[in-house]
Amino acid sequence: MRAQRSAPIGVFDSGVGGLTVLRALQAELAQEHFVYLGDTARLPYGTKSPETVVRYGLQAAHALLERGVKALIIACNTASAVALPAMAQRYRDVPLIGVVHPGADAAVAATRSGHIAVIATEATVRGGAYQRAILARRPDARITAVPCQLFVALAEEGWTEGSIARAVAERYLAELFGEEARAQAHHADTLVLGCTHFPMLRSTIRAVVGEQVAIVDSAATTAASAHALLRQRGLVDGEAPDASTPALRLLATDGAERFAAVGSRFLGRSIGAGEVELIDL
Ligand code: DGL
Repeated sequence: MRAQRSAPIGVFDSGVGGLTVLRALQAELAQEHFVYLGDTARLPYGTKSPETVVRYGLQAAHALLERGVKALIIACNTASAVALPAMAQRYRDVPLIGVVHPGADAAVAATRSGHIAVIATEATVRGGAYQRAILARRPDARITAVPCQLFVALAEEGWTEGSIARAVAERYLAELFGEEARAQAHHADTLVLGCTHFPMLRSTIRAVVGEQVAIVDSAATTAASAHALLRQRGLVDGEAPDASTPALRLLATDGAERFAAVGSRFLGRSIGAGEVELIDL
């Protein structure tokens, strides 16, 4: 059992965005080792068909399990929203958690009016997983979901503040949070950042939606849920990290240098290209 407890946790994303979730996981589970896989060769997932996202998700899960992970965290909202049921069915015995349910928990805890806005990629919005997860927790909720695909590119480009980011955020969010919308009694009081990249634009989004709206992202709740799931399965590694295994292994399917450069901003610490191992799925 100790051998299994000391195995790393697998974290999967379509690219570097999931490093925002990894950061929260490392803070919550400081004793654990992690293997992070970013499918950089095939991102974005957010514009792909459900069939493709399911296929990619299953391949990524297989690659991580082959490397001996004891649990799988799907840090990608699109993969969580679209591929998680197929992954859970294929790998029934593996503790598996996505970001959608923890995000829905956080949204329902934050809302008072019951009107929740979700912003995400096209595929996440189209699949309706957030809408279903929120309604399962609060059947009277009113949910407005808006795809904000350009935020992904802005976050990767590092254009998270300034006039361009602000103009894009206004274009996407004015209908929901503009003056006219805010004057109505039942405007959304909670905004879910349903994409790995969107927390990078938090201050711009905050400036557009105003101070009264609760902004929820699923990174911290996912980390807490992952901790609870591991504890429940007796898989929390309570012992000091084994110095012979790196605390973090970074895998990508393309572009170690770009992964390192862009990923450093998402992880909040510098990543060297030499730390990134390229693999095929
Ligand atoms: N990781 C994706 C998500 O959270 C965003 C990037 C992509 O579209 O692949 O939905």
